Amino acid sequence: MNELGREMAIDALHKAREQCMEDRVFTLGGREWHQLAGVVGSEYNTATELFTDWLPYAGVASMLEMGAGCGVAAISAALSGCPRVLAVDINPHAVESVRLNASRHGVADRVTALRSDLFAEVEPEQRFDLVFWNSPFINAPISRTSEDDYLTDHFFDPGYRLHDRFFLGLGQHLAEDGRAFLGFSAAMGDVGEVESIAARRGFTLRLFRDASFAAPYEQIGAGTVFQRASDDQGNITIDFTLMELVR
Ligand SMILES: C[S@@+](CC[C@H](N)C(=O)[O-])C[C@H]1O[C@@H](n2cnc3c(N)ncnc32)[C@H](O)[C@@H]1O
Repeated sequence: MNELGREMAIDALHKAREQCMEDRVFTLGGREWHQLAGVVGSEYNTATELFTDWLPYAGVASMLEMGAGCGVAAISAALSGCPRVLAVDINPHAVESVRLNASRHGVADRVTALRSDLFAEVEPEQRFDLVFWNSPFINAPISRTSEDDYLTDHFFDPGYRLHDRFFLGLGQHLAEDGRAFLGFSAAMGDVGEVESIAARRGFTLRLFRDASFAAPYEQIGAGTVFQRASDDQGNITIDFTLMELVR
């Protein structure tokens, strides 16, 4: 378990429980996006923006955004010319946010939003040229507070059981020449564990692109975990890493 990731995610979850309780509109990548109550979005959109900018949409005929949240990557794919986009999420408020955003940006005819536990509601024969998941990469024990505690699902995947099911479904739904990407963080996630789970399902992880940001540890969080994770200058470096899943 990555204790820095766990502590950061616990802090983020507490903030989300206070801040994500009303509908709002946020700006990202020069566009405005709906974020309905119960969806995490605007506070944590650095990774969303980077991954959305880096994904290779050119020539893609079909795209699946897993765990789409507000649907920023899915809608950006459609705006880049992708004619068939499916955005799925376990969180019904996220699915509704994607629908609103697809209409807002004039791509409702090519973006379908579906409530689904991973690939459960995706047609068994559907294959995608591009699959992307900015995943809940915090591998730490956590108790969901209720059956619809979707805020916890946003950040945590204890034991990477969800990632394992994702890799399994990916094998079935990725087109033969398709490309799949996982939005991750080595500083907060557990790269070794996700690599070995992916390998068992027939995928290797290859660094596609990353970016790192350093800040004094006190700005990241209070407590010994943050101090321990800092370097000689007292900084913690956080990366956002887009990994390609290669079959
Ligand atoms: C880190 S968030 C990414 C959100 C959004 N794609 C973004 O980049 O801002 C992870 C997303 O995965 C979704 N998720 C968690 N468990 C899921 C599941 N079993 N099936 C589908 N989506 C799930 C969460 O609801 C959340 O929207």
